[in-house]
Amino acid sequence: MEFRNAKAHVIAALIFASGTAVAEVAGEHEYTVACAGCHGESAMGDGPLAGLLNISTPSLLDLTRANEGDFPFEAVLTTIDGRDGVRAHGSMMPVWGERFRVSATSQRGETADMVARGRILSLVYYLQSIQQE
Ligand code: HEC
Repeated sequence: MEFRNAKAHVIAALIFASGTAVAEVAGEHEYTVACAGCHGESAMGDGPLAGLLNISTPSLLDLTRANEGDFPFEAVLTTIDGRDGVRAHGSMMPVWGERFRVSATSQRGETADMVARGRILSLVYYLQSIQQE
């Protein structure tokens, strides 16, 4: 049990202490794999799948501007995670928190939730880094 906690803390420390630069690089990779299909390579909402959805896919470059110049960190985090269920029923956005957690379970057992949160956090840092002021 203590070992498990230590492992979780090491992962958390790596994520937080390594600073945002490393997280941004990881997040860019996550973004390309998981998000660009809909939101587009340059996050303008123009990915190849966007045209197939029955609602429009938003640009992710204006999140700061739309929030009066403050990057809405919490809101973006919970939107990507999706597990708190605040979003409208029938949303087209996949529930990434659940997907990342499930895919982590098979590889890393008890730290699956930590892994999922780390991946989501790296995505938030990446999105923060590409905001148009
Ligand atoms: C299947 C297409 C699809 C994929 C893949 C997708 N999104 Fe989305 N996303 C949408 C759509 C459509 C919306 C707007 C409506 C909604 O929330 O469902 C949205 C909304 C958002 C919002 C809220 C934007 C705002 O203006 O408030 C964020 C943030 C976001 N997506 C981030 C991501 C990230 C990060 C990923 C990759 C982990 C991702 N999306 C993958 C389709 C997608």
